[in-house]
Amino acid sequence: MADTVGEALRAAVTRLAASGRPASDAEELLSRLLGVDRGELQRMSNAPLAREQSDRFEAHLVRREAGEPVQYITGRAAFRHLDLAVDRRVLVPRPETELLVDAVLEHLEANADPRRAPRVLDLGTGSGCIALALAHEHPGVQLTATDASEEALELARENAAACGLTQRISFAGGRWFDAVAPDDRFDVIVSNPPYIALEERAGLPGDVRDWEPAAALFAVDGGLADIRDILEDAPRHLLAGGLLVLELAEQRAMQVAEWLDGAHDWNAVEVRADLTGRPRMLLARREHGPAIAPAQWGEEG
Ligand SMILES: C[S@@+](CC[C@H](N)C(=O)[O-])C[C@H]1O[C@@H](n2cnc3c(N)ncnc32)[C@H](O)[C@@H]1O
Repeated sequence: MADTVGEALRAAVTRLAASGRPASDAEELLSRLLGVDRGELQRMSNAPLAREQSDRFEAHLVRREAGEPVQYITGRAAFRHLDLAVDRRVLVPRPETELLVDAVLEHLEANADPRRAPRVLDLGTGSGCIALALAHEHPGVQLTATDASEEALELARENAAACGLTQRISFAGGRWFDAVAPDDRFDVIVSNPPYIALEERAGLPGDVRDWEPAAALFAVDGGLADIRDILEDAPRHLLAGGLLVLELAEQRAMQVAEWLDGAHDWNAVEVRADLTGRPRMLLARREHGPAIAPAQWGEEG
């Protein structure tokens, strides 16, 4: 048994490296366990580690060696300025998804209307990360967050309560736009839908493939089925000039953008890269506003 925090950390880094895990995993596990940030962890290197802490750390390392994601072990994930509860009901929020929040905030700022609060729909909210970050970082936005998974919604609601953000977010269950009223319209629709092809399953890292919910990862039709569903119905739920923001698989991002380029409903179609330069985000503006009666939708095409 290690006597100090520093000894425990060094031993854990060496041990996890043997199964190909980065040093940051050991730091995250130990800092969360001790309730300190990573800087503080380094500073308390000579502090003694209690027996009970050491035993718990050992149990967490065993779980990590077995492939369980760090965030499921600690039960926490950082997303933008928030620290959210996560477990196997939801996807672990990813850094690239934080960029969707930037794109939405940019649009809301550029199109602010002092007469009313903007409305944003987050489809497939999972842990609630996108909706909660938007509510946290934009003082007036009204959010609707949906998911087909009742289990995910349960956790998203818990996160909203823990962050004190329940006032401006309503949650709804159902498949994509079935979760909202047929005539409900938004300034922005944002989604990180399932987009991995079933055929790509074998090539995924075990931490993802064996631990995260399949319903959050995989889409039939070569990873495109859910994106198609969203693209088909999104125009009916966006206001004139409204924005659709989707996270995509890098290998299909340009294909999806080409579907929309020159399409009747959309303009200003743009693909943005993530922090590593891979094309991962689609932005498209609704050309014509649905300022028409729902009965006319069919005619508008
Ligand atoms: C890739 S995860 C994204 C979760 C979260 N927004 C994030 O970025 O971490 C996709 C989410 O969509 C939900 N989902 C899958 N199929 C759906 C459907 N047909 N309708 C609504 N939500 C769906 C899943 O339950 C999952 O929470």
